[in-house]
Amino acid sequence: MLPNPYTPGQVPRVLAGRGPESDRIRGYLSRVDTFGELGGPLLVFHAPRGVGKTSLLRDSQRDAVEHGFVTAWVSCSRRQPFLPELVNRVARALTTAEVVPARQQGRWSDRLEKISLAVGPPGAKLTAEVSRPAAVAPPAAPIAAVEDLLHEAATRVRGRFGAGLVVFLDELHAPLRTDTATFLNALQNLDGARAENPLAVIGAGLPSTPEELTRAATFGERSAFVALSLLDDDASKEALVGPARMLEVDWDPDAVRAVESEARGYPYFLQLMAHAAWNAAAPSPGDRVGAAHVAAGLPAATEQLRTMYRARWRAATLLEQEFMVAMAADGHEAAARSVIATRMGRDSRAISVPRDRLLDKGIIEPAGHGRLRFTLPGFDAYVRAHHEARG
Ligand SMILES: Nc1ncnc2c1ncn2[C@@H]1O[C@H](COP(=O)(O)OP(=O)(O)OP(=O)(O)O)[C@@H](O)[C@H]1O
Ligand SMILES: [Mg+2]
Repeated sequence: MLPNPYTPGQVPRVLAGRGPESDRIRGYLSRVDTFGELGGPLLVFHAPRGVGKTSLLRDSQRDAVEHGFVTAWVSCSRRQPFLPELVNRVARALTTAEVVPARQQGRWSDRLEKISLAVGPPGAKLTAEVSRPAAVAPPAAPIAAVEDLLHEAATRVRGRFGAGLVVFLDELHAPLRTDTATFLNALQNLDGARAENPLAVIGAGLPSTPEELTRAATFGERSAFVALSLLDDDASKEALVGPARMLEVDWDPDAVRAVESEARGYPYFLQLMAHAAWNAAAPSPGDRVGAAHVAAGLPAATEQLRTMYRARWRAATLLEQEFMVAMAADGHEAAARSVIATRMGRDSRAISVPRDRLLDKGIIEPAGHGRLRFTLPGFDAYVRAHHEARG
């Protein structure tokens, strides 16, 4: 039996429909490669959950490595520092690429130790960040340390044999704001000496990322923001047909259309439905996946999705559930905080506890001007249906 080539929840085998975004990243990197200078302002992709941010970045990481870059990947967590992890990841990337010659190892680890101390050990800066403070100037020492780290690592890569250093920052909407501010300040300073820093930084996060970066440092708004869209029909088809062709299996056109109309360009749904249709077809080389297989797979795919929604729903307290019901009442538009409070029959300030908890769990996110939205497409419909079912 052939293995299932679809990847719900994992980096896809075929990254469909992201040609323009991949080109944009390539252009950014080629500046580093050709001129040995900073690629440009921080490049940030944003989209709701499951639209393919991590997949795009992972694909670009692979591409960057093929083009002689050394890469470091950091995945941020909500209200946690990420700079200690950045130091670790950059250090490890340089070690793996054998960029630091043996005779300089001692000096390099001394440098790293000093940098680590300046940015703070993991977990050390967990001073609760009280709700939403205005941007405050971060202290100078960690900024200088991050500058040193990125400058030194990037020039070492370039000096040794490589094109430069690429740092990928995933979940960039999430981390402790002081760390974001420190990082943005360091990047701004490195930009001042652009020609000496063969470096690119590429980020991804939820749609709240631009606002979050601007709150961390006013010049955060000068980052290059790119919204990642859903896949159009051609790209959806490619996502379905591409992985199957690798195994000499084809899709009937009406089967493709059936998945397209169910998934509506949402990459996670596409993978889920294709995975289920493949299991129903259990094809051998030369076989075809047909509309009947899609129909047969649909209950399994829908159930998987419902399990995900249900897990989110059940992890919420009664008050949080009440909050989500009030929020979902308008369809999938972002809901204003005051409207949610009115629907719950409470004062606007009294709803900040469930709101903060739901933000922390990554179930909802700010959508600007005191509005909130769900991070996972389709979850609003689940909440409405669930609520109605309960009566
Ligand atoms: N361009 C694409 N072509 C085909 N499949 C894709 C594409 N982009 C993403 N996917 C699939 O969609 C799903 C979600 O992708 P991914 O994890 O990259 O999304 P994300 O935006 O990072 O989500 P989250 O916000 O939850 O981290 C995965 O199953 C992945 O295989
Ligand atoms: Mg992701």
